[in-house]
Amino acid sequence: MQPFPLPRWIAHRGGGSLAPENTLAGIRLAARMGFRAVEFDVMLTADGTPVLIHDETLERTTNGTGRVCDASDAAIFALDAGGGEPVPRFDQAAALCRELGLLANVEIKPAAGHEIATAEVVARMARTLWRGDELPPLFSSFSLAALRVAHDVAPDIPRGVLWEEAPADWRSVLHDLQAASLHCNATLLTDAVLDEAREHGISVLAYTVNEPERAHALFARGVSAVFTDRLDLFSGDTTAYDCLQLGG
Ligand code: G3P
Ligand code: MG
Repeated sequence: MQPFPLPRWIAHRGGGSLAPENTLAGIRLAARMGFRAVEFDVMLTADGTPVLIHDETLERTTNGTGRVCDASDAAIFALDAGGGEPVPRFDQAAALCRELGLLANVEIKPAAGHEIATAEVVARMARTLWRGDELPPLFSSFSLAALRVAHDVAPDIPRGVLWEEAPADWRSVLHDLQAASLHCNATLLTDAVLDEAREHGISVLAYTVNEPERAHALFARGVSAVFTDRLDLFSGDTTAYDCLQLGG
């Protein structure tokens, strides 16, 4: 696989704070505002269907109640995820990203105990959904077990490892998973980690950065891309690309 074009600005949870999170409306808005990449979170329903949602429970982002992993497809797809938007299926989000030419950072967000099943389904579907596409998605997850499965099922789809703060052995974890990128909380990112990443040609992505000055300071320190909720502050400045080095 060739080096992977990585937009420097990634819309967080679809359209950031300007649209209901993890919805198709958010993804469309990100594209309209000039973003070339979106991040969204994917979890399984009780029927095993991958859908876009962040929390393990429905209350914060929908008018439903209870756990996502206990809710049937029929129940989930009847909900309002904000502004009349439904909870999207993963395949719908993938098709939309492909149609709009957006890089999809698919965050595999398993409910606790569902790591293997979630990664298996998402990776298997992604392999088919992006087959033949020049721009594959980028997987990421806080779950190392999920990333291991994603690697086994869809080895050609690049992976990033998510942490709040990179642990001391972060590079050996990336190496074991043959992961291409390190995704960390911007406020916990140290120069030592950035120096080590630079030395080894590993891209670092930082979340969640909602001030342009902070984003530029992070780029100056070697960060390749930032996730942002404030699409309004970055639109017009969204066309810059870095390069994700593949190879783990
Ligand atoms: O992938 C970056 C970021 O989305 C990780 O945190 O909680 O917003 O999924 P969270
Ligand atoms: Mg996320």
